[in-house]
Amino acid sequence: MKLFVDTGNLKEIEPFAALGIIDGVTTNPSLMARESGDPRKILKQICELVQGPVSAEVVATDAAGMIREGRELAALDTHIVVKVPFTKDGVKACKTLASEGTRVNVTLIFSATQAWLAAKAGAAYVSPFVGRLDDIGTTGMNLIREIVDIFDNFDFTTEVLVASVRSPIHIVESARMGADVVTVPPAVIEQCFKHPLTDIGLAKFLKDWEQAQAAKV
Ligand code: E4P
Repeated sequence: MKLFVDTGNLKEIEPFAALGIIDGVTTNPSLMARESGDPRKILKQICELVQGPVSAEVVATDAAGMIREGRELAALDTHIVVKVPFTKDGVKACKTLASEGTRVNVTLIFSATQAWLAAKAGAAYVSPFVGRLDDIGTTGMNLIREIVDIFDNFDFTTEVLVASVRSPIHIVESARMGADVVTVPPAVIEQCFKHPLTDIGLAKFLKDWEQAQAAKV
C-alpha cells in the first residue's frame, strides 16, 4: 500500500520525504488556502521534492472550467494528478482529462456507486473520505471494503486512495482490506512512529550496555 501525505505544506513534507517513506502527496483547496505564496509554485516545488503523484484540486464547478483548470495544473509538472469533485460536471471533466492522458483523482467519494461511476469515467484514483463518514456516525471503513471488492470483481485499474484519515487504525484497516493508497495527515504519520515500549526498550538496551562497559573498567 502506498503512503501519500495529506498536506500542502512543504516543511511538513520534507522530513518524511527525507526518510524515503512518501510515495505521493494530496492537497485540496482547504489545505492550499492555509499556505502563503503562489499555490502553483508550491505545487511545483512539492512535485520536485517528492517525485511522485501530487494531487492538485480544481476550484471550478462547471465541466468546462474544470477541464481548463485541470489542463493548466497538469502542465505544471508530469507528477500532477488533477483532482476533481464527484459531481456530474466532475465526472465529465474526468472523462475528458483522462482521455487526454491526464491522471485524475475523483474526490469527495461517499458511496460505492460514486466510486464505480468515477472508475467508469477513467479516474486514476478515487478518494473515499472515511473520517468524514465516521464523523456522521457511520463506519467509513465499510465503504473501503465495498469499493475494493467492486474494483477487484471487474478488474478496474482505478486505485482506491483512502482519504480523510484520522488515526493509525484507519491505516491498518486500509492495508488489511487491500486499498492501494492511504493519504495521511503529518500528525497521524508521526503517531505511527511512536510506541512507548520502543522507547522503554531502547532506554534499557542502552543502560544495560553502559553498565556492562563501566563494569569492565
Ligand atoms: C485528501 O485528498 C482529502 O482532501 C483529505 O484527506 C480530507 O481530509 P479531512 O476530512 O480531514 O479534511
